[in-house]
Amino acid sequence: MATCPLVALSDPWSYGSEQFRAIKTSIMFPENGRELRTILVTSAMPGEGKSFIASNIAAAIASSMDNYALIIDSDLRLPTLADIFSLPPEGPGLGLYLNNQCSLEDVIYRTYIDKLSVIPAGPVVDNPSELITSSTMIRMIADVRSRYSDRYVIIDSPPPLFAPEATAISKHVDGIIVVVRNDKTLKKSVAKMLDKLDRSKVIGIVLNRYTPYLGDDYGYKNYYSNGKGTRRGSCPF
Ligand SMILES: Nc1ncnc2c1ncn2[C@@H]1O[C@H](COP(=O)(O)OP(=O)(O)OP(=O)(O)O)[C@@H](O)[C@H]1O
Ligand SMILES: [Mg+2]
Repeated sequence: MATCPLVALSDPWSYGSEQFRAIKTSIMFPENGRELRTILVTSAMPGEGKSFIASNIAAAIASSMDNYALIIDSDLRLPTLADIFSLPPEGPGLGLYLNNQCSLEDVIYRTYIDKLSVIPAGPVVDNPSELITSSTMIRMIADVRSRYSDRYVIIDSPPPLFAPEATAISKHVDGIIVVVRNDKTLKKSVAKMLDKLDRSKVIGIVLNRYTPYLGDDYGYKNYYSNGKGTRRGSCPF
């Protein structure tokens, strides 16, 4: 069976799903009342689970009664969202839109998940950081934020220590979620990354691949131990 990364939907009673619902709640009902409608998901190093976490947060938001989610792949270097959401890999995406080669409508795709749309990165471009730091990108974030009052925008990004895009985007979002890989990320890398972001916007740190012991009777087999957790049912997607 192919791995389904959207555990927030495929195994709603798992420990991981509960964590995604908790993150969703903290986005929708922020403690200080500040409206959080555009959220950047980032991490210090490659492969720590940014795209996995961003996709599951978006899926958790879309699974609530009244809210819509739009997830944007701003990683024009190593895009993954088209794959996660089963979109055509060479279809138009953010890169073409920012290059003025198509309209915004052309790059917003509906997914098989009700109320969840995606802007994939699209075909690889030569100038990712120029495009992401452009005024068109800034305007687009503002545009998708303001267009619908019931929509949350989640932006997946490359790691700021490796590419300048996340730092640029962080200036134009309401909140930032930092992903830390439990068994890998070094404290000094996290500190260096936070120096590149506006710390006041960091709304949470997700400790990825962490497995708490919850007792033998807890009804889940975790996804956080080795990425190959056992699912009770098969992935419906
Ligand atoms: N908690 C998890 N449980 C299971 N699989 C996971 C988990 N976190 C990440 N993965 C898997 O690990 C791989 C790397 O994760 P992902 O692509 O989300 O990392 P990334 O930080 O976005 O990487 P990059 O920096 O290259 O964009 C993917 O195959 C993803 O499905
Ligand atoms: Mg990624």
